[in-house]
Amino acid sequence: MCGIIGYNGKKPCVDLIYSGLQKLEYRGYDSSGVAVLANDKINLVKQKGKLSHLLPFLGSLPQDASLGMGHTRWATHGVPSTENAHPHGEERVSIVHNGILENYNELKIKLLEKGQRFLSETDSEVIVHLLHDELEVVADVRKAILNIVDKLQGAYALGIMVHDHPDDVYVVKQASPLVIGVGEGENFFASDALALLAHTKKFIFLSDGEIARIGKDGVEIWDFYGAKKEPNIVTVDSSEASLEKGGYRHYMLKEIYEQPTVLANTIQRMVCKDQNSFDEKLLCSDKINLTNIRKVHVVACGTAYYAGMMGKYILEPKLEIPVEVELASEFRYRDSFIDDKTLIIAVTQSGETADTLASIKHAKSKGCKTLAICNVPYSSIPRECDATIYMEAGPEIGVASTKAFTSMVLNFYLLGLAWGQRMGTQSQTQLQNSLESLVKLPSLIEQALSHEALISEIAGSYFEDHHCLFVGRGHQYPIALEGALKLKEISYIHAEGYAGGELKHGPIALIDRSMPVLAIAPPLSDYEKVISNLEEIYAREGRILGLGLADDQKLKALCSHVIPCPFIDDPALQAILCSVPLQLFAYSMAIHRGTDVDQPRNLAKSVTVE
Ligand code: F6R
Repeated sequence: MCGIIGYNGKKPCVDLIYSGLQKLEYRGYDSSGVAVLANDKINLVKQKGKLSHLLPFLGSLPQDASLGMGHTRWATHGVPSTENAHPHGEERVSIVHNGILENYNELKIKLLEKGQRFLSETDSEVIVHLLHDELEVVADVRKAILNIVDKLQGAYALGIMVHDHPDDVYVVKQASPLVIGVGEGENFFASDALALLAHTKKFIFLSDGEIARIGKDGVEIWDFYGAKKEPNIVTVDSSEASLEKGGYRHYMLKEIYEQPTVLANTIQRMVCKDQNSFDEKLLCSDKINLTNIRKVHVVACGTAYYAGMMGKYILEPKLEIPVEVELASEFRYRDSFIDDKTLIIAVTQSGETADTLASIKHAKSKGCKTLAICNVPYSSIPRECDATIYMEAGPEIGVASTKAFTSMVLNFYLLGLAWGQRMGTQSQTQLQNSLESLVKLPSLIEQALSHEALISEIAGSYFEDHHCLFVGRGHQYPIALEGALKLKEISYIHAEGYAGGELKHGPIALIDRSMPVLAIAPPLSDYEKVISNLEEIYAREGRILGLGLADDQKLKALCSHVIPCPFIDDPALQAILCSVPLQLFAYSMAIHRGTDVDQPRNLAKSVTVE
């Protein structure tokens, strides 16, 4: 949440910062600002609203400035407004902040008592005043920053410019992401390496508790105790092209269509050519001895949590050990029964989700082994975990997660096969059957995608509804939850997912003509039970939208419409397949309603605050 970017070099930086902010807009888009140090002063523009609202004001900044920073905000303290937009401070000190200061109120009270005047409602502004005061007594900027950092509690990635030190910009990282881009005669910083790929492939991923001085010709790093650290420069092999929309109307649509390729690549990467063994990376054997594990606990948030639920359905029968799944925001504060024989699996697209990260730290303090399933290399959660399975799904920019979800589920599936083989809980025949089904998956997803026009037409009959229930059983139950989440996120229609068997226990009271029910009904072993649920809804004059075989006559008889979905004889892989038309359905509903698909209101892609 919130994106920050900065530059110190020899080029004019206003446009460079703005185009970096465009790549970070997925992190927050309620206001933005740019500050540059030039003509012996800090020059600042800020604006409420989307980043494009800032564009007309950039011309008032000195265009030859070559040191500056920008920010795109997701409001936590204080409404979205020009005053609350970052950067804060315009006289001696200017800062951009991503994170939350937990003790800002007590710091603010003290500063107010000293006569400081606040121009915003943000927590971040206290940093400006603290640093301003500290620089009155400590001339060395790094030391002054370290002194104030001592007073801050919470999460912060900071960019700091000081007017009378025009050669350097400083950055600080504590529990919020920050990366330094290393160039020739120029250096950068940002919340995400993606924003800098147009300029460099060389990065320094700062650790928590580090401060860096970023000059034109070099970068120096210290820890919060003042000890100098050797920068560890890594090369990130990702292309700018992956950040474009590639001719699609929205990132979300592009990412939905990337799924056959992403999943095919993963299968190819993870299943060895002999079709009888798996890439060692899946088993993380150099880091974790999986044969010692007696229990798995999956922790995640949002869509990743639903992928984690799928993980439970997939892993438990394949491994014959208990698998729990829990929201990271609950797990981190709960006194759960976990020990050194427990494997905690953190599922996360971004690798930065604050609750998931805190859960891993909590689990480590209890001696658990930790594994991440993650999409973003060098992000915080993989760095905290004993081992990581990288999804390699490519950047996901649309705020609503799509390809990352199916990729997470596929990685659980592959982990289950590989680990089950290692434990001897998967017979050779089971393994062969799974692998045979697996290779069919990408082309079946392509088939599912071919119904986009029909799905859009069907959505035309539902987009004016205010509510929608999603129903599924077994492996399709987490998919019902995920389908409902997708719909509410981008169309703002109230949607809930239920297990079919739960309908009678309450939700059936909601059924009437204004409550469409989307029923996930592929012909799996529990098909007849799903049909019974639908009979009950039909008998109460409910409107049913089915998801199943195009020529399923029983389903057609009960449903107002049927969204076609191909069939695969494996409930976990069927769940991956079923999630694709549901993504298209949510997308089409949003298009019909005219909402902002890629940047839905109130949301941001990377939830780095609690
Ligand atoms: C929903 C969505 C969110 C994320 C959640 C966790 O479409 O994207 O619910 O799944 O915020 O994010 P990660 O996976 O980055 O930990």
